[in-house]
Amino acid sequence: MITINNIFGQHCARFRIVLMVLLVGIVSACGDGNNEASNQPILIKFPHVTAPGTPKGLTADHFKAVVEERLAGRVTVEVYPSGQLMNDDDSIDALAFGEVQMIAVSLSKLDRLTKRYQVFDLPFLFPDLDAAERFQAGPARDTLLTAMVESGLRGLAFWHNGMKQFGGPLAMTSPEAADGLKFRIMESDVLQEQILQMGGNPQKMAFGEVYQALQTGAVDAQENTWANIYSSKFFEVQEYLTESNHGYLGYLVAVNETFWQGLPADIRAELEQIVAEVSAWGNAQAKDVNDGALANIVASGRSEIAQLSDAQYQVWAEKMRPVWDKFAADIGADMIEAAQAAGRP
Ligand code: SIN
Repeated sequence: MITINNIFGQHCARFRIVLMVLLVGIVSACGDGNNEASNQPILIKFPHVTAPGTPKGLTADHFKAVVEERLAGRVTVEVYPSGQLMNDDDSIDALAFGEVQMIAVSLSKLDRLTKRYQVFDLPFLFPDLDAAERFQAGPARDTLLTAMVESGLRGLAFWHNGMKQFGGPLAMTSPEAADGLKFRIMESDVLQEQILQMGGNPQKMAFGEVYQALQTGAVDAQENTWANIYSSKFFEVQEYLTESNHGYLGYLVAVNETFWQGLPADIRAELEQIVAEVSAWGNAQAKDVNDGALANIVASGRSEIAQLSDAQYQVWAEKMRPVWDKFAADIGADMIEAAQAAGRP
């Protein structure tokens, strides 16, 4: 598939955004492209990068099943898991151009379109998934969901994956352990700063390349959820995994704005309802899916699992505070305060 990424490479982000906004305008002017008028079912192509057994994989498949039952003959959903259609970066462009209709991309990877989601990447901000969920349901919800409408992406919901853990050649019970390590990170400036603050060397890299990069030593270390570490087999190429719960990995479920507004009103309303139900279903089981993945990793005996004591957790959290300071002005003190409050139920 030809996307703006392929044509111009990874480093022209600003140019790509401008071009994307222009092309979204042209696509909008050319109509919505949905098939209802021709009596064909409306097609929702939904690519994502994780395995079917992860929180996102399970929820995407459940969405397809519910849509095709409740809107039988009117809407069809094609889910493409495991990056088999495209990587996340390309899927953001493909959604804006209407090549696909729905995505669920990590909030971290939307950094190039909006700074609003940077709050989700602040280390040691959300203590658990419940805190992130309270924040997502709070007063900031609508602002966050509609932050990229001008770029052609409308957010419908937030889905959890889980809390992130560190993996590498040694136990990361203190920040010093990370000194000098090459860390794979998602495409986020906050995560980049987090690794620099740890004394590591951050490497932004697509999810589908991580296993091989760890295996060949192109990177030494990574951070991800138990569900991703297990399903993508990172545990097979990481000597130590540290249960650090230091950050949140969640997704924005987004649709192409032109496609969405062009849907018949009854179908749009039903899809909205289904997304809400399916999101609640998926988010309610995300923690269990991650706990199950951790149990499977432990049972495999392939990597050593280290835990952080409360005191070690506090040392980590304090060491990472300058990352908050660096991004506080962009994110907004009120947003950070609301996120912190969500962690103090
Ligand atoms: C995902 O969970 O969708 C991928 C996260 C990553 O790139 O690490």
